[in-house]
Amino acid sequence: MLRYMLSFCLSIFLFLQCFPEETVTNGKVKLTVGLDGNGRPVYSVDLGGKPVVKESHLGFVIDADSAFYQGFVWKGVERRSVDEKWSPVWGEVKEVRNAYNELTVHLEKKGRWLDIVFRVFEDGVGFRYRFPKQDGLRYFVVRQELTEFAMGGDHKTFWIPGDYDTNEYLYSTTLLSAIDNRSVVDSSTDIAVRVAPDAQAVATPLMMKTQDGLYINIHEAGLMDYPAMQLHVDKATRVLRSSLVPDAVGNMAYLHAPYATPWRTIIVSDKATDILASKLILNLNEPSKLTSTDWIHPMKFVGVWWEMQTGKSTWSYSDYADSLGSDGKLIPNGRHGANTVNVKRYIDFAAANHIGGVLVEGWNAGWEDWFGNWKEKVFDFVTPYPDFDIHALTAYAASKGVQLIMHNETSGSATNYDQQMDTAFKFMAGLGYHAVKTGYVGKIIPRGEHHDGQWMVLHYTRVAEKAAQYHVMLDAHEPMRPTGLQRTYPNWMACEAGRGNEYNAFSKGSPPEHETIMPFTRLMGGPMDYTPGIFKLREYSSVPGRQMHTTLAKQLALYVTMYSPLQMAADVPENYEAHSDAFQFIRDVPVDWDDTKVLDAEPGDYVVIARREKGKDNWFVGAITDENARTMKVSLSFLDKGRKYKAVIYKDGVSADWKTNPEAYTIETLTVDSRGQLTLPLAPGGGAAVSLFAL
Ligand code: NOJ
Ligand code: CA
Repeated sequence: MLRYMLSFCLSIFLFLQCFPEETVTNGKVKLTVGLDGNGRPVYSVDLGGKPVVKESHLGFVIDADSAFYQGFVWKGVERRSVDEKWSPVWGEVKEVRNAYNELTVHLEKKGRWLDIVFRVFEDGVGFRYRFPKQDGLRYFVVRQELTEFAMGGDHKTFWIPGDYDTNEYLYSTTLLSAIDNRSVVDSSTDIAVRVAPDAQAVATPLMMKTQDGLYINIHEAGLMDYPAMQLHVDKATRVLRSSLVPDAVGNMAYLHAPYATPWRTIIVSDKATDILASKLILNLNEPSKLTSTDWIHPMKFVGVWWEMQTGKSTWSYSDYADSLGSDGKLIPNGRHGANTVNVKRYIDFAAANHIGGVLVEGWNAGWEDWFGNWKEKVFDFVTPYPDFDIHALTAYAASKGVQLIMHNETSGSATNYDQQMDTAFKFMAGLGYHAVKTGYVGKIIPRGEHHDGQWMVLHYTRVAEKAAQYHVMLDAHEPMRPTGLQRTYPNWMACEAGRGNEYNAFSKGSPPEHETIMPFTRLMGGPMDYTPGIFKLREYSSVPGRQMHTTLAKQLALYVTMYSPLQMAADVPENYEAHSDAFQFIRDVPVDWDDTKVLDAEPGDYVVIARREKGKDNWFVGAITDENARTMKVSLSFLDKGRKYKAVIYKDGVSADWKTNPEAYTIETLTVDSRGQLTLPLAPGGGAAVSLFAL
């Protein structure tokens, strides 16, 4: 008997050695991690017993080992739990709870070590690979990362193609099995767009909904010194596999142990609102690296911008770089937007409306020939055009209590910006500019590198660090999409990295559902400079028939639903003056918050969010819908009990419709308290914005 028992125990022991397995739970989320029969690390995730990620492989192809994904020996695990709170410098909430159970798995293969660190939160899982300091692996090249996310079904998916250079696409909504990015058509040209070589690659954040009502979001956190992760979709098996953005010679990443990759994130809930409220990505980022942050101030801004986007004026001073007069100087085209008189007009408008900043694009020499980056050095970032009196304007803005916001378009020439940027930041800091909008339009130089590859990821981070050194806040256009790095670099306030409102100026535009998908996708990684607030919704463009796909009230609601600590009032002053009553909402709405309640949401359909102003008892609500009219009921139970509030409700007029009557709105003022409920009728493509001032 004893012999049988001993041999039984031995077989169990051997089985456990061969197929080790560990589980970690937090609330309803359960993670299982182990090694399969080939020594391949595998994991799975479920929520309350429902599969979220089925058994999925982990590992790499590296130059030192083309099968650094199998043949591993399980060397042991470590566990720990953390439950802490931290306060962001700015944000959607005053305080963030970071509570997780962590499991670190130590693996070894022929003298080479790999750790995988898992953190299990109540709303999902994050995991990263760690290459410890070791003799068998020092400098190495990642040829492929083989992280998989095996989906449990053919989920409804909101996706854009995995392009190596841009995230500025419209979203397609299909089943996983129907994803094919060759079907993506550009809304400006109606032709299929150029996408990454892999027709089955999609970008993250990827939003999915299962047939039994789970919402699953896959992205990454803390992307530094590594390429962006895209996902290759195996349509037959529904396995999503990490597909990294390559460099100019086809390698993915150059690493040096000890090294930890960015976190792979899986956020899951049976409520769509929980996805938008999740702080998992922020929590997986490192705390602020900045020693002082008291110079960082969220703000609203206007800009010499929409007038160029809509073709009324130009970025350039002259029409061609070779339009020279007999004096050898550029001949002005008479349409240059960033001229001293025009910029003063924007400064006056900002000052009169308590808007903190004025962005000026096209102020610096080089715009005659900037597009297409044949030349490496197009701009020097310190030479103003002759009709832009930078010193006089800086003094004028300061006298009015307004800051000018610098614009540095690099035209994709990152090598040039790397060389110029210390001079550029010294220049702006010397003039008292505390914010910059950068841009990376066009192909990247170094040639062959991609916007979302490791080389550029390092570049964007260098820019954020340089900006911090000169106390400048950063808003980057065309960088890799954000992954929560605003926690680590709180001066990196916003990014574009998605299809902004500007597409309504230079293409047929984005459909009404676009802004109901963006919070579940692009905004999961961080704030977006979406440039809301267009008031003239038709006939703003020289191209006939062009129009915004929203009502005016929806443009107001976007100030709440599209979170950004740098938020533009994007239209031109005269269009705001024509609707001064509606503009009051933009004057009032803050850009920094103590609390956020995601009241109702469904990707592709609607979003309703309430936020509490930083340091005050006032609340602001934004509600938006897709092409369908709907009525949203908003319970005011989030208001302080027993307190009265003045509610100013900006809503679609009865006959409003994004297509036929976008500018119809009504403004209503009521007194309410926490027992009340608002009924907000939203027109097709419509929205509602509400200010709730504590009395
Ligand atoms: C593209 C940016 O998204 C836009 O905002 C900017 O005006 C142009 N590039 C020019 O830099
Ligand atoms: Ca852009």
